[in-house]
Amino acid sequence: MMSFYSKILVAHDGSELAEKALKTAMKLAGVDKRIELHILHVLKPLPLLDFLEAGEESVKVLRRERAELMMNEIKESLDGMGNPIVIKISEGHPEKKIVNYAEHHACDMIIMGSRGLGGIKEFFLGSVSHYVVQHAKVPTFIIK
Ligand SMILES: Nc1ncnc2c1ncn2[C@@H]1O[C@H](COP(=O)(O)OP(=O)(O)O)[C@@H](O)[C@H]1O
Ligand SMILES: [Mg+2]
Repeated sequence: MMSFYSKILVAHDGSELAEKALKTAMKLAGVDKRIELHILHVLKPLPLLDFLEAGEESVKVLRRERAELMMNEIKESLDGMGNPIVIKISEGHPEKKIVNYAEHHACDMIIMGSRGLGGIKEFFLGSVSHYVVQHAKVPTFIIK
């Protein structure tokens, strides 16, 4: 029987909690090989200082290369699963891109970390997870 959730979106920023979210998604998808796993990484607009220091293009290229390396590693770690896997790197505001991606690809669940790479650990939710929980139209599973 097809499980209730058939297209799961994992928002991955390279953080430990995002990795934990990915592992949870893998377990959920493991119950039925037809469940699609989508892994999305969003490159944020560059801070102004980075433009000034090294020039926009070189910083952008380096950042994209790093992101591609990370996503390739993730793809390899999913190779044995047998589920359909979609890996995507996009550019923009992560919170909006995650919500839009889920809508456009008809993902029926989002899995993400409560916090990511941001420094201030004062709040339970980071700004990205906070926004997505509020704006996503599908159940959003927050991993802590
Ligand atoms: N650039 C991004 N691309 C994809 N997912 C992201 C991105 N930034 C954050 N996320 C997701 O949101 C979760 C919470 O991160 P965030 O709200 O940014 O907290 P923090 O402020 O601690 O970085 C992460 O664990 C990850 O699942
Ligand atoms: Mg963050």
